[in-house]
Amino acid sequence: MNWHTRLLNDYERFSSGLPRPLEPYILETYGISLASEYAGHRIKNPFGKASGQLSLNAHQVQRDAEAGLGFAVLKTLIAENEAGAQSMKAWAIPATKMTVEEIVGTREPVRGQHGWTVTWKGRGWSERFSDYLKFFSRSIESAGSHSMLVVPSVKYHLPKPEETQWNRSEYEFTTSELYRTWHTLREGCMPLEKDFSPTLAGDESFSRERETILNWLRSVPDLIRETSVGKDIRLGLKIFNAAQHDDFQLEMLNAVEHHPRRADYVIYGNRLFDPNKSYEGVRGVAYGGPDLSDRNLSVLSQWPHTIPLSATGNIVTGAMAFEYLRRGCTSFQMHTLFQLPDSEFAMKSNSSSRTERALHRLLFHPSHGFLHALLHDRERHPWPSGSNVLELAHYYPSLG
Ligand SMILES: Cc1cc2nc3c(=O)[nH]c(=O)nc-3n(C[C@H](O)[C@H](O)[C@H](O)COP(=O)(O)O)c2cc1C
Repeated sequence: MNWHTRLLNDYERFSSGLPRPLEPYILETYGISLASEYAGHRIKNPFGKASGQLSLNAHQVQRDAEAGLGFAVLKTLIAENEAGAQSMKAWAIPATKMTVEEIVGTREPVRGQHGWTVTWKGRGWSERFSDYLKFFSRSIESAGSHSMLVVPSVKYHLPKPEETQWNRSEYEFTTSELYRTWHTLREGCMPLEKDFSPTLAGDESFSRERETILNWLRSVPDLIRETSVGKDIRLGLKIFNAAQHDDFQLEMLNAVEHHPRRADYVIYGNRLFDPNKSYEGVRGVAYGGPDLSDRNLSVLSQWPHTIPLSATGNIVTGAMAFEYLRRGCTSFQMHTLFQLPDSEFAMKSNSSSRTERALHRLLFHPSHGFLHALLHDRERHPWPSGSNVLELAHYYPSLG
């Protein structure tokens, strides 16, 4: 049976539940190893949940682990010092509403293309710090038996243009408390995403300050390394799309890549910002969809890099994940995908979680799935033997 027919059969066959265990099945059937890495940790497959409203309680994380994700990034915590003070307190507000909407591309290559975006009001973790630690701990526990990696995300103090001091006590307290929780349950270095929120991209006073942003990107790795647990942290910087020309995106990425004591990895790239759109009485909203992936892919294509990369931004198909893979990304993290309407999923909803249905779509879809993209590509130019996803993420950029 050729691979096209096999994939079509599998897509139908698995619409009532994925094969278990998933990765060995794919390796045996298609000769493709999904193994990859996130923050230097092995992950069984490259698909993960991005930080946000879908990873803010232990139940959600447990369902993701059961469904088969490779990793999950928890909702962003707003850092605090030992006295409970938060310099980024304005971000610690709960979500009140989320709306999933269709959106049409406006950038030239994707003009008129239909996609999806989630509009919402709300920002970071709004409950107590101690509750986040409990949530982190429970999440690691429930994910462990399914070999899913759990990653905390934090928004620490970032000085405004007129400020000269960094609030180091927030960096110390928050990082060391998270690490203490990690270390009681897991071995090795703790992965940590530092969120540079897209909301900042729309803040006039910040986003016009190119030097301020570059200073943040250069200083944060040192601030984390200088904490008492710094040597045990694998730091990822989640880069946002600034309200600037694409050249500035490259300047930000280069500031991270060429820093002498640089971060361990980059997450690229958080959402775009529309200063004119209003939602629930708030003017200016972050958005995704075809323009987001088009901008991200175009910037990544122009960026020769050696720092490991995790992709985010409009990954609603496996074919899109493959485009990020071709630009060197070793993992893919999604938010909007898990909120698409039921009609976007072929797997039946009564027998499966939303995450399992998303994985079915991402992997097995016979025309825009990840396996289709890989098998089609392997047919045209054979890969180095025994390649897994991690090796392919290095192989593709080396082709030039
Ligand atoms: C409702 C919502 C909440 C989000 N909250 C966070 C957050 O707390 N921290 C963060 O780093 N990113 C957050 N994001 C950004 C996502 O993690 C993701 O990077 C972004 O939405 C792009 O991926 P997507 O196109 O698959 O949605 C949020 C996104 C949405 C839609």
